[in-house]
Amino acid sequence: MKISAGGLDLVKDSRVSGFYKLSREDRVKKLKEITGLGEDDLGPLVDPGQVDMGVLDHMIENVVGAMTLPLGIATNFFIDGKDYLIPMAIEEPSVVAAASNAARMARGHGGFSATDTGPNMIAQIQVVDVPQPEVAKSKIMEKKDELLAFANEQDPILVRFGGGAKDIRVRIIDTKVGIMLITELIVDTRDAMGANAVNTMAEALAPRIEKITGGRVILRILSNLAEFRLVRVRAVFDKKELGGEEVVNDIIAAWAFAEADPYRCATHNKGIMNGIDAVIIATGNDFRAIEAGAHSYASVGGYSPLTKYEKTPEGHLAGSIEIPMAVGLVGGATKVHPVARVCVKILGVETATELGHVIASVGLAQNLAALRALASEGIQKGHMALHARNVAATAGARGEQVDTVAERLVKEKNVKVERAKEILEELK
Ligand code: MEV
Repeated sequence: MKISAGGLDLVKDSRVSGFYKLSREDRVKKLKEITGLGEDDLGPLVDPGQVDMGVLDHMIENVVGAMTLPLGIATNFFIDGKDYLIPMAIEEPSVVAAASNAARMARGHGGFSATDTGPNMIAQIQVVDVPQPEVAKSKIMEKKDELLAFANEQDPILVRFGGGAKDIRVRIIDTKVGIMLITELIVDTRDAMGANAVNTMAEALAPRIEKITGGRVILRILSNLAEFRLVRVRAVFDKKELGGEEVVNDIIAAWAFAEADPYRCATHNKGIMNGIDAVIIATGNDFRAIEAGAHSYASVGGYSPLTKYEKTPEGHLAGSIEIPMAVGLVGGATKVHPVARVCVKILGVETATELGHVIASVGLAQNLAALRALASEGIQKGHMALHARNVAATAGARGEQVDTVAERLVKEKNVKVERAKEILEELK
């Protein structure tokens, strides 16, 4: 399924020149200007003091406070013919800048193009002590339509929206404690992440599965290896913007290193998740589920990079990512957390699948940016330059002063607030 450039066209152009150079107040102004969102919409995001503690108090247990993270906006993203400003909540410097930079390098070649498998989750029903597993498997498949209908009775609203239980598969596995029959229900969860929907269906089906198989059901729970909820994104990154054909070759070599070596591959995939988790957190989605899905999917057939790279005939870099994307727009923190609600508005996404396209694009951009830095000047130079800008701003530098002070801090190899204050005094 491909989502057209319909949706909410909130952002006409995500290229915001010099966004990083603005003060925070001016960035907020710009954000309002571009998205058309007002004080009421953006309030809890730009002023965390406005977040109602009563809402947080009811989200989990034993609440005493809140943990606030910086939330930045990634610019330049053009995905499936539509511009997006992307909110990212993360404590690590350089991630937002790197994603924005990589997105810029893909724009000249059409930006990011995404496809997906549809929002299908898997629920597992574990059956033990099955007298004749092969016979039991056949019997379940014979009753498939009846079982699917019963599963769908548990969630008429999901069915009304075009979702619901669509298929059943049965696997016989050999374990340390004997043979088990694993019945798996495939459920289209539409705009929900789907954990509640599929767990409810699995629990409801369990007694029927016991009756059919003559065995005993233990677990009834979704699988985070969401292999039927994949998103695939591709983009071409311009060789000139990357720094030339040699850099393109070295990025491909960096990727091949990850393909061949699990120690490198873990870090390669971690870099992808830097971007993905930041958007997942900003939108109130379950980052543990996404992490579990990503790394387990990467391990099918041997731990591999989630991205792939090739050279185009013109020498540009063609990158792609394929990743499970179990995200939701309805229910959970996405619906109740005031900041997550604002972030969804800024994104202007209409479906969970569209959100998945955006998030996977950020993952690809993030990975490309990391590989480019690693394969050229190294990661520390960029880190240091950004850190110096933050230090300059903390010391009180504003506007063009930020660059002037930051450059001097880096040149002097003394990136400290005290030194930045001295330089500011000198500039007066
Ligand atoms: C750091 O958070 C992420 C990187 O290590 C990713 C990578 O090495 O590809 C830079």
